[in-house]
Amino acid sequence: MLILGIESSCDETAAAVVRDGREILSSVISSQIDLHRPWGGVVPELASREHLAKIEPVVLEALESAEVTRRDVDAIAVTQGPGLIGSLLVGVCYAKALAWALDIPIVGINHIEGHVYSVCFENPDVEYPALALIVSGGHTNIFHIPAEGKYKIVSRTRDDAAGEAFDKVAKMLGLGYPGGPVIEQLALEGDVNKIKFPRAKISDGRPDLSFSGLKTAVARYVKEQGIEPLQNGDIPGQEIKDLAASFQKAVVSALVDTLEKLAVELHPRTLIVAGGVACNIALRQAAESAAKRLKVPVYFPSKHLSTDNAAMIAAAGYFHLENGEIADETMTADITLRLQNLDVEHLKGKAKYRL
Ligand code: KG4
Ligand code: ZN
Repeated sequence: MLILGIESSCDETAAAVVRDGREILSSVISSQIDLHRPWGGVVPELASREHLAKIEPVVLEALESAEVTRRDVDAIAVTQGPGLIGSLLVGVCYAKALAWALDIPIVGINHIEGHVYSVCFENPDVEYPALALIVSGGHTNIFHIPAEGKYKIVSRTRDDAAGEAFDKVAKMLGLGYPGGPVIEQLALEGDVNKIKFPRAKISDGRPDLSFSGLKTAVARYVKEQGIEPLQNGDIPGQEIKDLAASFQKAVVSALVDTLEKLAVELHPRTLIVAGGVACNIALRQAAESAAKRLKVPVYFPSKHLSTDNAAMIAAAGYFHLENGEIADETMTADITLRLQNLDVEHLKGKAKYRL
């Protein structure tokens, strides 16, 4: 089955052609990073306009580099949510129109589930139960996946996502956007033990995460030490490198310690670490060490598949289409989509139990 995946939930317009959910024939990503950089973050209105300009050329390029035509496509999988409403609508409307014109099935995919499927291309098959840490600019969750397609959130951030914390700290230090890659680069030359940042404690004892306290601790440190944010062209000094390394260590250990603690409890057969922050080598190394201690394999997507892409959406789409799920014409973008379809006592009445 040839699936055309389409992704436009945030600031990447992406299309991919994937065979049988596992073989990438093409994957095209048009990133808007340069467009949003002057603003220090994604500007939703600019993002949707750019998606509108790019969606058609990106899809055509994906078809061309896969050496297929529209008529060869068997089905379309499109990101339905969560994300920015204007951005999502561009992909969803385009995908629905194309599916209607070609008279082929379409399925709406949860973006986060897409990240879970990003590991399925370059790794052995995932064995269940699995435990997946999905860390990006918009999301930080750990999912227990007892069987394919069944999700239960066992840990989540109470405030900022991990990638968001990287971006905000980078902004504070004048390091530009997005923050993750710059902080990672500076951290290579910094001392991880220079500053002891506090670990957030969740008062109700749940294994949840919180990064806003860490962000405040960094802001306080910057003020106390009189660290000036960099101006264009400034070379970062040792104190900024040490700060980057210590901050990154605090984020990585909060994520991996929580993942390991939950793995001890839930006995997964596979660990998955995916999402934009999974590009981070320190996070990968820490997760690999934890996996070794747990004697379970850990799978990461390659860098191209860690940040937003459409191949992962097509892979998730393959699973749903194989299960006979086909969207009708009422399917539309939904920013409130949650990835949780198993009952959880403590969330009763608060969460939506649907994909
Ligand atoms: O998955 P993604 O492309 O978009 C969302 O769905 O949010 O993730 C983007 C996020 C940004 O916050 C960025 O700073 C972070 O991933 N990121 C990193 C690294 N590369 C990207 N964070 C830490 N280290 C990196 N190397
Ligand atoms: Zn994402």
